[in-house]
This record gives sequence, C-alpha cells and structure tokens, in this order.
Amino acid sequence: MKIAFVGKGGSGKTTLSSLFVRHLVTAGAPVVAIDADINQHLGVALGLEEDTAAAIPAMGEHLPEIKSYLRGANPRIPSAASMVKTTPPGRGSRLLRLGDDDPIHTRLAVDAAGARLMATGPFTGEDLGVACYHSKTGAVELYLNHLVDGPGEYVVVDCTAGAESFASGMFTRFDLTFLVAEPTRKGVAVYRQWVDYAADFDVALRVVGNKVHDAEDVAFLREHVGDALLCCLGQSAAVRGMEQGRPFGIGDLTAADRSSLGALRAAVDDRAKDWPKFTRQAVEFHVKNARAWANAAIGEDLEAQVDPGFTLAEAALTGRRS
Ligand SMILES: Nc1ncnc2c1ncn2[C@@H]1O[C@H](COP(=O)(O)OP(=O)(O)OP(=O)(O)O)[C@@H](O)[C@H]1O
Ligand SMILES: [Mg+2]
Repeated sequence: MKIAFVGKGGSGKTTLSSLFVRHLVTAGAPVVAIDADINQHLGVALGLEEDTAAAIPAMGEHLPEIKSYLRGANPRIPSAASMVKTTPPGRGSRLLRLGDDDPIHTRLAVDAAGARLMATGPFTGEDLGVACYHSKTGAVELYLNHLVDGPGEYVVVDCTAGAESFASGMFTRFDLTFLVAEPTRKGVAVYRQWVDYAADFDVALRVVGNKVHDAEDVAFLREHVGDALLCCLGQSAAVRGMEQGRPFGIGDLTAADRSSLGALRAAVDDRAKDWPKFTRQAVEFHVKNARAWANAAIGEDLEAQVDPGFTLAEAALTGRRS
C-alpha cells in the first residue's frame, strides 16, 4: 500500500511519517520509507544520526541506474536515455517488490528503525536556480510506478510541503494520502487546496489533526474539514523529548496517540487496490508530460512507450526474472 503524508510546512509531515513507520514496523509489517521532501529530515526522525542520514544515497543522483534497471527488456523503451520520470512500465519492464533484494533496494535503501529508508536527496548548490525539485522526486515517481505492493506491505512517503505536490503526477500515486493539519486557519487552508485536486483526480484523502490540545481544537478541525478528519495526535512530550535527543520508542507515546496510529493503519488497510486506475493515471500523466515537454526534450515520440495491453498488478509479476 502506497501512503503519502502531505500538508503545510511545519505541520508535522515528517514526524507523523516517522511515527507511522515505527508503528507499522513494530507490528511486524514490511515497510519502505521515502524522504521526498526538499528538507531531508525523515532519517533523523527515524533515529539515524545526522551524518548517517546525510550519507543515504540520493535517489535523484542515481536516475540513470534506476532507469536502466526498470527498463529491463521493455521493447517500447529503446534506451534508459529515452526514459523520463513518467515513463510507465510495460511488458518487459522490471517490476519491484517491497521485500526484494533488487539493485534499487539494496543500493539505495538503508535500515532505519527497522524500515528500508530511501531518500530523494537534498538540493545541492549546483541545482539551485537551474533544476526543479521534480527532477529528484522523478526517481520516486518511477519507483512507485514500478512497485507491485500488496496488502500488508507499506511504502510511506514524506512529501514536500503545500501545493508543491501538484506540480507533478506524484500525488495520484497513493492508495491513501494523509493531510497533516494543525488546528489553525493556515492548517486547514491547505486542505481546501487539496480538496479540488483530490476530487478531479479521484485521490483518497484523509486529514490527520496534529499538535491538537483539546476538544476545542478537534471541534475546529471538524468544523473545517468535516468527515475527512480521521483522527488526531496531541502535542507530544515524547516527540519533544526525541527532538531534545532523548531515546524514543513508540511505547513512549500516549495511549491516545498510539490508537490514532492504529486508526491510520486501519484506514489504509480498508482501501482496496485499484490497479487499473493506478495504471491509467500513470499513462495519463505520461502522455501529458510527453506532449508538454518530454517529446521535445528527448527528441522521440514518448507516447509510443505506453503499452496498451499492460496493467500493473500482481499478475504482471508472472514470469518475471529474479
Ligand atoms: N505531535 C507532535 N508533538 C510534538 N511535537 C511535534 C509534533 N508534531 C510535530 N512536532 C514538532 O514540530 C516541528 C515540525 O514538525 P515536522 O518537521 O514533522 O513538520 P514537517 O511538516 O515535516 O515540516 P517541513 O515542512 O519543514 O518538512 C518539529 O520540531 C517536530 O518535532
Ligand atoms: Mg518535513
């Protein structure tokens, strides 16, 4: 199951991503965590030392390897160089499984709190002013588009803040998107932005209240987001303690916060996989990108990369080379 945490800057996306990852791992579930934010903080939130976190291989710097691996023997993609971030898988492509020891997971993921952690990598000095962050998150799009995940397996992506997410098709890649909102007017304003996109693209969106103090805070969120409000987490002394360098375990959270993490998982587990929709939207965004810039940039008709007879799903794994 593919899960995103989005929301206003500072709302608690990274904190809640890390708590949810820890919750899943503690329950014995296989988890891949992905730091897809410009400010890379997920590794530290998962307990890595700063320098260990900074040394995670950047997915954005391994795009050529990622592309050439995923392309496999797909006859519609003549070379890795003609693959763009939206190029969808087709027959012959290499598909990914969460627990596999394929080159992408083994080379790019590190262990953090019992999860496999991957990271897009930070903006470097060279990127400033010339590249947009989507050239980095493109690696995550490719990963998600080739990943056949089943129920009980989780990919948790800590996304960039605010409406930045809509600049690429990545926001349609998730089984469930959690919008983290503080009980403030700015906190719920981001929800209003999301609602229209979510409706247009059939994105499943639930709001998670964060840093909620009391019943009035809950009522404020309920008033502004209605039934989209799934659950809330409080202003946590244990999270603050972790920020101050104290040891942290999921058991240090209050019972109410732990039960909210359980509610997040239940909401994810409640979602049925819709592989035809997932595949259709991948193709839609690819065609859109091909026409807007990628055909011209690559000098090929990239719409020809679409394999009309292919749907990503468990069945697509049959006959796959290991
Ligand atoms: N439930 C919580 N209890 C206590 N502190 C929290 C809680 N949630 C978040 N924080 C604190 O609030 C600050 C911002 O949280 P976090 O970094 O998770 O937000 P973010 O949305 O990922 O921010 P950014 O947009 O910068 O990536 C951090 O100092 C974090 O420790
Ligand atoms: Mg963050």
